[in-house]
Amino acid sequence: MKHWRMEDIAWDRFEAAKAAPEVLPLIKAAALVERNGREYAGYLCRVFDADAELCEAVRRWAEEEVQHGEALGKWAALADPAWDFHGARDRFNAGYKPPLDSETSIRGSRTGELIARCMVETGTSSYYTALADACQEPVLKQLCRHIAADEFRHYKLFYDHMRRYQAQERIGSARRLMIAAGRIGEGEDDELAYAYYCANEPASKPYERARCSAAYLSGAMLYYRFGHIQRGIGMTLKAVGLPTHGRLPAVAARMAWWWLDRRRNRLTRDLKLPARVSA
Ligand SMILES: [Fe+2]
Ligand SMILES: [Fe+2]
Repeated sequence: MKHWRMEDIAWDRFEAAKAAPEVLPLIKAAALVERNGREYAGYLCRVFDADAELCEAVRRWAEEEVQHGEALGKWAALADPAWDFHGARDRFNAGYKPPLDSETSIRGSRTGELIARCMVETGTSSYYTALADACQEPVLKQLCRHIAADEFRHYKLFYDHMRRYQAQERIGSARRLMIAAGRIGEGEDDELAYAYYCANEPASKPYERARCSAAYLSGAMLYYRFGHIQRGIGMTLKAVGLPTHGRLPAVAARMAWWWLDRRRNRLTRDLKLPARVSA
């Protein structure tokens, strides 16, 4: 059962004057990516075909992800009535297919697959929390809070199943860390960049991954505060079985914050963007 419905969002409280133009391209791109949930569910149910309980949970998870996409798309269309959500979605679906043809996990093990899912949910829960915290527009704030709560639950769902598989497969810490790091690095692959392109640029303009990825990331990175990164690091360490208290998480969070700050300053400078915005 979904934890909220489209009707639970107070759409009539939308305030156009508070919808910051900087956040709109990000929401449009996220709306397209979130709607891919069912493609991932099909793949996960092939990888975990003998696990009926997990497959059932994955199907429910996918419907929540699709709802995220629908709700974000609806908000973007309120903020920009000229935006063609369905047209952008069709373009994205025609041009991007997740690399999920395999019958076995592309991460090399079922535990690895679930660690990768934990990383995705770590990223999305941090991102929507950061957006909700920065947001001035009341409908987007409510929506991002609901979505972030779903993403934290999704993390727990995949984490709990991952522990069950790890008890059988016993993947070493170094391997688990590499899988997590690899999945984090995929944030700069085609999916988000191409979604940004389809959601925000005309088809007549050629797609360039580096440019679209930089445009998306430079916008998204502006909303994070140290607390969001700290929590994301804690979730990452937990997923790979490393200590979540003490010196390691403190040092890892400071390093991640330093990296993010450096990266966003560089992107902001290269793209000549404002240093900090509110949504
Ligand atoms: Fe989502
Ligand atoms: Fe999720």
